[in-house]
Amino acid sequence: MILLISKKEYSNLPNKYKQYFESFKNNHCTVKSIKLFTYLTELFSKKGDFVLDPFMGSGTTGIACSILNREFIGIELEKDYFKIAEARIKEQNKQTNLFEEIK
Ligand SMILES: C[S@@+](CC[C@H](N)C(=O)[O-])C[C@H]1O[C@@H](n2cnc3c(N)ncnc32)[C@H](O)[C@@H]1O
Repeated sequence: MILLISKKEYSNLPNKYKQYFESFKNNHCTVKSIKLFTYLTELFSKKGDFVLDPFMGSGTTGIACSILNREFIGIELEKDYFKIAEARIKEQNKQTNLFEEIK
């Protein structure tokens, strides 16, 4: 879903909605390509494997694991990056579950 609102409309939103949208902003300085990490994860693991990313950043490896049905453990030092990763992976899990329901 794509939602377009003006800066003014955004500034008038209640804080609880602003916080929701803020959690999706990815300001990680070295965010990686989901396509590349999905390719690499598929190359080096099997369905159901556990994948550990001890430098999770904004969670691209976790997203790849959700797409490919791998279990995922992520570790991240920076609280703000952790929150971004958590929001991105949760959102991908929703999409993946939806896709599995259709199958
Ligand atoms: C190159 S970035 C990872 C980027 C990630 N692949 C992505 O797509 O966003 C490395 C991350 O490791 C985190 N980091 C650095 N030292 C760490 C440590 N000792 N423990 C956990 N995380 C650490 C940094 O905060 C940074 O977000």
